[in-house]
Amino acid sequence: MIPVAEPCLGEEELKNVIEAVKSGWISSKGKFIEEFEEKFVRYCGRKYGVATSNGTVALHLALKALGIGKDDEVIVPTLTFVATANAVTYCNAKPVFVDSHPEYWCINPDKIEEKITPRTKAIIPVHLYGHPCDMDLIMKIAEDHNLYVLEDAAEAHGAEYKGEKIGSFGDISCFSFYGNKIITTGEGGMCLTNNEELAEKMRILRDHGMNPNRRYWYDEIGFNYRMTNLQAAVGVAQLEKLDEFIEKKRKIAKMYEEGLNELEEKNLIILHREMKWAKSVYWMYSILIEDSFGMNRDILMKELERKRIDTRPFFYPMHVLPPYQNNERFPIAEEISRKGINLPSGVGLKEEEIRKIVESLILKSK
Ligand SMILES: Cc1ncc(COP(=O)(O)O)c(C=O)c1O
Repeated sequence: MIPVAEPCLGEEELKNVIEAVKSGWISSKGKFIEEFEEKFVRYCGRKYGVATSNGTVALHLALKALGIGKDDEVIVPTLTFVATANAVTYCNAKPVFVDSHPEYWCINPDKIEEKITPRTKAIIPVHLYGHPCDMDLIMKIAEDHNLYVLEDAAEAHGAEYKGEKIGSFGDISCFSFYGNKIITTGEGGMCLTNNEELAEKMRILRDHGMNPNRRYWYDEIGFNYRMTNLQAAVGVAQLEKLDEFIEKKRKIAKMYEEGLNELEEKNLIILHREMKWAKSVYWMYSILIEDSFGMNRDILMKELERKRIDTRPFFYPMHVLPPYQNNERFPIAEEISRKGINLPSGVGLKEEEIRKIVESLILKSK
């Protein structure tokens, strides 16, 4: 089966893990944690990094540090991975959904202001499938309404908006290093910020809320959200390869685009095009299957599976999921979600595999 994604791990990761094991520092103390934080922060053009055990808790930690709590509202795109909304819910706050942009599928900035109420405290833009959000518009809205911005950059390591790295905008940005992400630590996450106070707050909350100057003294209830030295050992090695992985992802996207262009010209599919202000990292190379394609998205996925090509359907929009169901309609997100598939996008993907996938899609179309 050609996988949708697989981690690309080598001798360097192994060497670091062996070093961590031999050192005995296998929990959340050890040299790799700070090294990973420092190097990733520098890569993204930020000041402080707080590594966490996964990307979901990175979001929770960031929201907690920003003081998001009961009855607060946080604006999130309805089309995202469920963790974005769940992190808000963990704070006893309410995620308020916004529809997607029809061209690049992230939160539509034009639809944000109508959702702002006196309870709104923050906006979480999600750089979906590796394509950046329109950050200028989002930052302007946040400034006008005095809202925090928390970037969910779980899927967009190294992506750029107008030449600036994703993860360098807003108050805090959060990343995931899950096994299918552009770089991985197995499970893992990180919060980045330029604000020293927020960084300190997140470090304290990550460690049960322990007062840094008084061992086993807790001024508040925190969490155990720490990353282990073993995870960070993998991360340090992965980080060295990030630019190479991004280049590979972009090359894969270009090959798909060239191969699938004819289907788009016939209005059978829609490609995830890069906006002129964006550098996408194509975490998942994604297309929309139009109704005119000849078979619906789910049948096509089964057909591809028979040819040993693995794919993923798009996320369901949050507003249709049982915990978040409401009567609101978000037509763009609903349509994108119904039509979207992620094609194999791993950095280990071979040219002949991409050709096979493209040919299979062309054969299956009308
Ligand atoms: C947009 C988004 N946010 C948050 C997460 C949560 O990250 P993790 O799986 O590391 O908890 C993910 C992915 O897994 C994601 O895709």
